[in-house]
Amino acid sequence: MAKMWTGRTDGVTDKIADDFNSSIAFDSRMYKQDVLGSMAHASMLGAKNIITKEEADIIIGGLSEILADLDSGKLEIDMTAEDVHMFIEQELTKRLGDVGKKLHTARSRNDQVALDMRMYLRDATDEIVNKIKKLIVEVTDKAEANKSTIMPGYTHLQRAQPITFGHHLMAYAMMLLRDVDRFIDLRKRINVCPIGSCALAGTTYDTDRRMEAAALGFEDIALNSIDGVSDRDFCVEFLSACSLLMMHLSRFSEEIILWTSWEFKFVELSDAFTTGSSIMPQKKNSDMAELVRGKTGRVYGDLMALLTTLKGLPLAYNKDMQEDKEGTFDAVDTVKMCLDVFAPMINGMKVIKENMHLAAQKGFINATDLADYLVKKGLPFRSAYKISGTIVGDCIASGKVLESLTLEEYKKYSELFDNDLYEAISLETCVNKRISEGGTSPKSVEKQIEFVRGKLNV
Ligand code: ARG
Repeated sequence: MAKMWTGRTDGVTDKIADDFNSSIAFDSRMYKQDVLGSMAHASMLGAKNIITKEEADIIIGGLSEILADLDSGKLEIDMTAEDVHMFIEQELTKRLGDVGKKLHTARSRNDQVALDMRMYLRDATDEIVNKIKKLIVEVTDKAEANKSTIMPGYTHLQRAQPITFGHHLMAYAMMLLRDVDRFIDLRKRINVCPIGSCALAGTTYDTDRRMEAAALGFEDIALNSIDGVSDRDFCVEFLSACSLLMMHLSRFSEEIILWTSWEFKFVELSDAFTTGSSIMPQKKNSDMAELVRGKTGRVYGDLMALLTTLKGLPLAYNKDMQEDKEGTFDAVDTVKMCLDVFAPMINGMKVIKENMHLAAQKGFINATDLADYLVKKGLPFRSAYKISGTIVGDCIASGKVLESLTLEEYKKYSELFDNDLYEAISLETCVNKRISEGGTSPKSVEKQIEFVRGKLNV
């Protein structure tokens, strides 16, 4: 078919060039945004008498039928079309004749594609925010059920200090809450309407950009038409927030994978979210968590690809910008899938409290508390640290633990030791006494849960 832009050239392009140039295979997912944008545009053109009101109504009617037919599957996307914008305009003209050709007055595909992307990402952002919130609810519920479950906390992947599993989980809730904030914040910058920027310089028609923007739910319009068609910062910001979110999910996944190993056995995932091995009958693999960790790399790739595509582009629109879509859509799909799988995976995760407690009893993770005990008896921290370190060293050499030394043995290291030391270094005391704001005590974890739930309004 002859191109809609036949004129300067005969519009006859090589098949290879057509295939290479076409974006319909991936931008057709924006058909709804494209039609809604065009309806608002026709309505504005009619209101401003750029086309007649009757013409505007006919166009809007035609567009709404196209939308219904696309939704129902009655109308199939023509995969030979150049892009979704051309396809819908062509279909409109096919149905309405010449009046359909008036729709593209006072706009360009350059502002149209920017509009569609913004509308699409606005919806995707809302969906992602809801999915993150659902995950936070699962994490928070699991944290509440484990606010007193003692486990070793790690630094350098070495047992460090006793913590509660609830506290550990709430760290992820806080990370995810920041992700929600980030998406809500960047949505403000997505929600700026570029339509009316036209090809790059604006238009000679007496348009009302604000009317069109308001009809499409935008809070503001792009104040510079060149920026309006050249700006893809909102995609970069979106991809960057996706990357951060994925990084959080990936760290969480990594821990889940560790915790489900025989070496840890801190948690067990439900059968519904694990896989077996085709050869090793004993295997129960955390494939979902591994895939989330793996897919993180691909979302980072989407971000880097777009940053690299944009870095050398002169203003205003360049065809390179069509490359914004596949990566951005890939990130949307990937992030949504990962969140969908993560929430029920956390819900079904069984916590093996005994194993966490057993692990917490090893590794001298109450050594800090032993030092703190001496500090509270009047010793400077550094001296207390040295004495406690020496005791730990001697225990390791003799195969003992801090709890098994007698008071007489303790007294050889310092006269300050008394019978109350055993209570002071018990794991329960270690966690219950960490009452500082944000600390690991069950009371503090309760406060964190309350805070997060308050933020989520649940
Ligand atoms: N398919 C194009 C894209 O995704 C639409 C804009 C085309 N504009 C143009 N001047 N060729 O970027």
